[in-house]
Amino acid sequence: MTFSRRDFVKTSVLGAVVAKVGAPAALAEVPAQDHNAETAAPKHPVIICAHVGYPYVEAAYAFLKGGGDTLDAAIRVVKGPEDDPNVDTVGLGGLPNEEGVVELDACCMHGPTRRAGSVGAVRNIKNVSMVAKAVFEHTGHVMLVGEGAERFAVAMGFPRENLLTDRSRKIWLLWKEFNSDRDWWGPGMADPHWLPPAPDAKPQAELWRDRIEQLRQRAADLGIEPDFQMAAVRRVLFPSTGTIHCSVLNEKGEMSGITTTSGLAFKLPGRCGDSPVIGAGCYTDQDVGSAGATGSGEENIKVAGAHSIVENMRHGMSPQEAGMDALKRIVRNYNSDMTKLHYMDMTYYILRKDGAYAGVCLWEGSSAGHPHRFVVHDGTLRYQVATPLLKGFSQEWPPIPTVPEELKKDSVYLK
Ligand code: GLY
Repeated sequence: MTFSRRDFVKTSVLGAVVAKVGAPAALAEVPAQDHNAETAAPKHPVIICAHVGYPYVEAAYAFLKGGGDTLDAAIRVVKGPEDDPNVDTVGLGGLPNEEGVVELDACCMHGPTRRAGSVGAVRNIKNVSMVAKAVFEHTGHVMLVGEGAERFAVAMGFPRENLLTDRSRKIWLLWKEFNSDRDWWGPGMADPHWLPPAPDAKPQAELWRDRIEQLRQRAADLGIEPDFQMAAVRRVLFPSTGTIHCSVLNEKGEMSGITTTSGLAFKLPGRCGDSPVIGAGCYTDQDVGSAGATGSGEENIKVAGAHSIVENMRHGMSPQEAGMDALKRIVRNYNSDMTKLHYMDMTYYILRKDGAYAGVCLWEGSSAGHPHRFVVHDGTLRYQVATPLLKGFSQEWPPIPTVPEELKKDSVYLK
């Protein structure tokens, strides 16, 4: 006897009904809900998200107040940066992989229906946050990746488009040239502008000033506009892991969360970070709370950050304690070796079902005067500074070769 998928669903549902009617005693073995399930209902809706979502939160909050769904409100926040060609860490204009191809990741959880969707390494589709939602709405799966995810998105009516903007293409070209002493990119020795490697006689700081100025000049040659040239150089020296997460709570205590990103700039094709991983980049259980992450994806996957945080809250920790504990697990994975830990960073956005929230981060920020910030709306829209676990600033990866601290701090350079 063979079963179609439809038969299987029908049979399973019937089986569940029989089990419920026929064996009520089994229910007694289900552990009682923990105390967090009884947490007081929120006084008002709350939205928490990464700083890049700020311009879109007010409208999303109004949508939520008008009775809009929590996941749809979260999508209204993250779709803004996905559509914005000038935000180069997510969606259209995201920085590409090492081959110059933009690959996007996203995942989401819908608290009211307890569903989850995810897509990884998707090319040519801008709004992967919405594709992640479509996965749970229109398939029996949770996660689709690569070409299959792209084909699914097209089948669902999402337009295929070129996500590599001219600006991101030029930054990628600049990155190729920065690495060109080890490959065949950039001007060869036959080029009249070719320069032999700088002699080592100069002190590090001076060598770096020369190198940065050369890169800035190359950015100008590539046609990058003057007031963005240093920002482009910074992106080349320190490939970003920028991402946007958004968690939402409404007055009924319903919650959803979503995370979307173009991932680590200049990554290997096919690399997925934490953003499409349910439990790492995002996790929502509306009995307890919702959490999400931006930062070093590989480190966050190893501690299942968002899930660990929600479970910590389930067992009684405050949002801040729950986030700090996840950060301490990252520190533990490196035996507190600060030399290594300086090359990573992580920010967690945490919202409990009663409306309590926190933003926590591994380091204070990337340099003095630039702390990690997050956005909150609980009736009043504002930025808040995230609470760091460690005092000091992250040193971005890769560390080759180390940029002198005085140059990193100097706002003329690399800001
Ligand atoms: N957290 C984003 C990434 O690592 O891809």
